[in-house]
Amino acid sequence: MNRVKTLSTILIALLIAIQFVQPARTNPPADPARAITRRLQVDPEVARILDRACRDCHSNDTRWPWYSRVAPGSWLVIDHVNHGRRHLNFSDWPDDATEQEKLSAICSEVTSGRMPVSSYTLVHRNARIESQDARRVCEWATREQQALNVTSPR
Ligand code: HEC
Repeated sequence: MNRVKTLSTILIALLIAIQFVQPARTNPPADPARAITRRLQVDPEVARILDRACRDCHSNDTRWPWYSRVAPGSWLVIDHVNHGRRHLNFSDWPDDATEQEKLSAICSEVTSGRMPVSSYTLVHRNARIESQDARRVCEWATREQQALNVTSPR
């Protein structure tokens, strides 16, 4: 019994100690001129899907959940957000050739089911993507790619 007590004391002490290791949760100020909506037409239905399923990791406007304040969960969440933003950021949308690549990546990620990240949808049930949502996002991404081709052929 004593051993259990010692072990749980160590565990609790550890849990408290790791709370001091907190990477920053940032929501960097977003320049409206860099927002995706300044470059592309995002119809309301697609905007709603991106908002509920992607925004937290792919924009500067993250809604930080309570468990992002408690280590070790916070480490995973903050890493996902920082990493996600580096790959794709609706608040800092590219205005060069990579725009096309991002659009086609969005389509393939939602079609394959790789995005949204499954550990996220496990907790955020309303972020799940049904196949018709994925289709809608893909149709939109394809349409926008074609529109870009017309206005600035590359
Ligand atoms: C929980 C955080 C999270 C959510 C939610 C999320 N992503 Fe991601 N996403 C990431 C991370 C992290 C990466 C970096 C790639 C990797 O390591 O998996 C990424 C990568 C991507 C990429 C690759 C970009 C590139 O440069 O090739 C695309 C596209 C993408 N996500 C689209 C989406 C879309 C669309 C949604 C919503 C339907 C979404 N993601 C939801 C975290 C997230």
